[in-house]
Amino acid sequence: TGHTTLDYGFVNTSATKSAITFIDGDKGILRYRGYPIEQLAKHSTYLEVAWLLIYGELPTADELAEFDNRIRRHTLLHEDLKRFFSALPHTAHPMSVLSAATAALSTYYERESDPNNPEHVELNTIRMLAKLPVIAAYAHKKSVGQAFLYPDNSLSFVDNFLKLNFGVLSEIYDVDPVMTRALERLLILHEDHEQNASTSTVRLVGSTGANQFSSISAGINALYGPLHGGANEAVLEMLGRIRDSGEGVRRFVERVKNKEDGVKLMGFGHRVYKNYDPRAKLVKESADEVLEALGVSDPLLDLAKELETIALEDDYFKERRLYPNVDFYTGVIYKAMGFPTRMFTVLFAIGRLPGWLAHWREMQQDPQTKIGRPQQLYTGAVERNYPGQG
Ligand code: CMC
Repeated sequence: TGHTTLDYGFVNTSATKSAITFIDGDKGILRYRGYPIEQLAKHSTYLEVAWLLIYGELPTADELAEFDNRIRRHTLLHEDLKRFFSALPHTAHPMSVLSAATAALSTYYERESDPNNPEHVELNTIRMLAKLPVIAAYAHKKSVGQAFLYPDNSLSFVDNFLKLNFGVLSEIYDVDPVMTRALERLLILHEDHEQNASTSTVRLVGSTGANQFSSISAGINALYGPLHGGANEAVLEMLGRIRDSGEGVRRFVERVKNKEDGVKLMGFGHRVYKNYDPRAKLVKESADEVLEALGVSDPLLDLAKELETIALEDDYFKERRLYPNVDFYTGVIYKAMGFPTRMFTVLFAIGRLPGWLAHWREMQQDPQTKIGRPQQLYTGAVERNYPGQG
C-alpha cells in the first residue's frame, strides 16, 4: 500500500511522544526528567529516582518517606504465590521465573487492575515496586536451593533486597554499606532508557488495555534476550570463554570482525549511542572501586579492559562507532557482589522496573494513545485456489 514505510527495527519511527528520558546518542548524554544521569547516580537513591521517573519531579523528603513506607508495607507475597515457585524446576532461568511470577501476580489482583482506575494504577505501581524484588530474590534462592526469607521491612529498599538474596535463615544478616551503595548506583543507571525494546513492549501490550502486571511481565520477557538485557550475562560468559580457551583477546576480536559463527563482542554497540555510553563510563569507574572495597580481585575485569582497549583502537569498531554499553562492566561488579551469572539480567529488570511503570502510566494518560498496530509489506502469494476449487 502506498501509505506504508518499511522500517525494520523501528530505526526511524517514533511511536510516541515522551517527557521521561532524554538521550543524545551522538554526544553520549542521558537525562531522566532533565537531570543528568551522572548527578543522579552520585546523589540519589533508587526510590527517589523511581518517584522522579513516575511522577515527573524529585520528591520532597515527606513524599519520599511516604512512598518508601507504602512500598515496605506491600513487600509480602501471598503464601500461595510462594508455592508457585516449587512447581518450577530448580534449573529454571531466574528471568523466566521472574516473568512467570509477575504474570501470576496479576491473578491475585484481577479485581483491582483496571488501567482506567487511578487508584488501581497507583496501588499496583506500589505493589510491583515492592514485590518484584522479592520475586527476583526468590528466583535466586530457588536456583541455589536455599530457603526463602521474609522481607525485613526495617531495612531500606536496597538492603532488604540484598538480605533476601544473601541472607540465610540461621544467621543474622549484616548490612554492608559498600554493597548497598554499589547496587543502588547500578540500579539507578538502569532505571530508564526511553523507547528500548522492553519498554516499547510494555507500551505495546499496555496499549491493548492490558493491566500493569501483564504489560510488565511481557517487558521482562523482551529484556531477557541477549541483544537487550541478556547481554550482561552474555558478557561474563564471553569473558570466561576467552579466558578458558586461551585464544587471547586479539584472536577473539579477529573472529568478531570476521563475523565467524556470528560471534559478536557482547556489551558493545548500541542502537542509539554512537559514542561512549554514559552509563558504561560510570559503571567502569565504579568497577575498580567496588572490587577493591569488597576485597575482590577478578582477572576478568582486566580481560574486559584489555578487550575494550583493543576494540576501541580497531577500525572495525571505529567505523561502526561501537563503544562499550551499560552491560559491558556490570557483570564483573555483580559477580564480585556474589550474584550468580544467571541473576544479572534479573538485576537489570529490577533496575528498569520504575521506567516501565512510568512509561506505562504516561501511555495510559496520553489522549493520543491508540492500540499499537504496525503495518506490513505483504510479500506472499497474490491469490490461488484450494486444490479442486476453480
Ligand atoms: N560486535 C560486533 N559487531 C557489531 C556489534 C558487536 N557488539 N554491534 C554491532 N555490530 C556491527 C554489526 O554487525 C553491523 O555491522 P555491518 O554493517 O558490517 O553488518 C554494524 O555494527 C551495525 O550494527 P547493527 O546490528 O545494525 O546495530 P543495531 O543498532 O541494529 O544493534 C545492538 C544494536 C545493541 C543490538 C548491537 O550493537 C549488538 O548486538 N550488540 C551486542 C549485544 C549487546 O551488548 N546488547 C546490549 C545493548 S545496551 C543495553 C540494553 O539495551 O540492554
